[in-house]
Amino acid sequence: MCGIVGYVGPKNATSLLVDGLKRLEYRGYDSAGVSLMNGAGVETRKAKGKIAMLEKAIGAHPIKGNVGIAHTRWATHGPPNECNAHPHHDCTGTISVVHNGIIENYSPLRDMLKKTGHTFVSDTDTEVLAHLIEAAFDGNLEEAVVDALALVEGTYGIAVISSRDPEKIVAARKGSPLLIGLGEGENYVASDVAAILQHTRHVVYLDDGEMAVLTRDAYRVTDLNAQTVKKRVSRIDWDLEQIEKGGFAHFMLKEIMEQPQSIENTMRGRSVDEDGFSKLGGLNLSKDELQHFDHIIITACGTSWHSALIGKMMIEEHARIRCEVEYASEFRYRNPIVTDRTLCIAISQSGETADTLAAMREAKRRGAKTLGLVNVVGSTIAREDDGGIYLHAGPEIGVASTKAFTSQVVALTLLTLKLARLRTMSVVQGRDVTQALERLPQQVQSILDRAAEIEQIAEAFVEAKNFLYLGRGYNFPVALEGALKLKEISYIHAEGYPAAEMKHGPIALIDENMPVVFIAPHDSVFDKVVSNVQEVKARGGRVIVITSRDEPSLEGKIDYEIRIPETIDMLNPILAVIPLQLLAYYIAAKRGLNVDQPRNLAKSVTVE
Ligand code: F6R
Repeated sequence: MCGIVGYVGPKNATSLLVDGLKRLEYRGYDSAGVSLMNGAGVETRKAKGKIAMLEKAIGAHPIKGNVGIAHTRWATHGPPNECNAHPHHDCTGTISVVHNGIIENYSPLRDMLKKTGHTFVSDTDTEVLAHLIEAAFDGNLEEAVVDALALVEGTYGIAVISSRDPEKIVAARKGSPLLIGLGEGENYVASDVAAILQHTRHVVYLDDGEMAVLTRDAYRVTDLNAQTVKKRVSRIDWDLEQIEKGGFAHFMLKEIMEQPQSIENTMRGRSVDEDGFSKLGGLNLSKDELQHFDHIIITACGTSWHSALIGKMMIEEHARIRCEVEYASEFRYRNPIVTDRTLCIAISQSGETADTLAAMREAKRRGAKTLGLVNVVGSTIAREDDGGIYLHAGPEIGVASTKAFTSQVVALTLLTLKLARLRTMSVVQGRDVTQALERLPQQVQSILDRAAEIEQIAEAFVEAKNFLYLGRGYNFPVALEGALKLKEISYIHAEGYPAAEMKHGPIALIDENMPVVFIAPHDSVFDKVVSNVQEVKARGGRVIVITSRDEPSLEGKIDYEIRIPETIDMLNPILAVIPLQLLAYYIAAKRGLNVDQPRNLAKSVTVE
């Protein structure tokens, strides 16, 4: 995710800010930049790619100053390039802004500002902030920031400097973390304590709706009505490595725990409750084009292929469009049937998977329109598709995909809503879906809050040699995903099956050494799964059930039960997969394995 660091004090800020950015590299980013007050005005250097590129840009034209802000960008609006990198400026070049978060109403704000003569140079949502502050500026930077933020919808953590009010940094927070670091005759602002830990361990965390004004010798925190807020100074005892992982032992666990926020970010501004509809600005498809498709092919690999299977079920059930799911590696060498009424959806966290890219290109060559469901903005799939939905899940660093999967299912739900509401789905049915979506972050959190229960269950299976995962309907792909998570990080052999297929072969494997995980929320196929549980128990298998209600007929037949909240059938995978991610994680961690970088695996598979 994006990172912010700012400094005001007696030292030369350039190297201090660049060092701070380096401490934020672990969060993932695609470009970086720095702005300093150089005595005459605001001076900025930016670069696409690694911090080393920024250092090169600074080396070519050094800047000096004692007040400055810096940023690492993870693209959300517009591709990663020098122009879209932060800081962003107003028309006069006297105001410089870095921003984490998403300005939801940036498009109407941009139109409004353009009409009043402002000129934009980037594709970003952030640039509107610089121009709004310019429009409101009347000699005092914090007052202008307050006026600008009053017009903004969305989330932000920002730091702003201006050569027209040069001795200060103004910072503000809503929904995106920000803290102040306190030094002797110097102060810092950062989105993450890792950026400033080498300089100070004394910090003040800003809360939503708060603003801070930092000078060399003082800081003041107010609300957005200029009322002073009394803040507590905290002392940081963690070391850097602990901070990078947010205090978690591994990135994978951190990313599992981030899912309430990542799901929220995928939905933000897209799920329209009153109309039971979804707004998906990036599709680049007219209503007529969306109605014209009579065939969808979803292509992907690995975990993304599992979310594709869920997408197929949603689309066929609700939008009533014939939908196929193809392994990208197979699709690219087949002779598939593609017409001008075919829509090809490529799903990829990285947007760089070679097979998925080749499959999408092949579909395009054959006349299909293409959509990318991608997490990494500006990745090759995102650049080459005809339109798409960015996941906005934030960088996924652990090799095993977790938060990207749940965001993919959310994005597929939004797409299904769009297609279905243009066809047979009523407003009332649409609202059932949007309301269920809105409940998800809190429901996911309620499962994560019970992670210790799952850790305890994991203890019993650390020595297991095999695992079977069974589910039906929407939960069959979840069984596949649970098995993949376990095998890739724990090296325990695991298979996922449709629960009723068990009797056609895998049932022969069942004895007291075979743990069987049933994904059985209370949905339309629940009763059928109950019979499958009984079959396993009758053969001595060890049963773990993920379910959402008490079921008297299962009493005495379950060894371990993990409860999840109830939701509509199509969203059950998002809740059911959380305990499976945790189970795989805890088993692998207890086996002492390198969870974030399992053997033989890479985060992005860019070879065939
Ligand atoms: C599993 C995993 C892989 C990826 C697959 C596709 O945890 O991470 O199976 O899902 O390599 O990667 P993307 O989604 O980047 O195309």
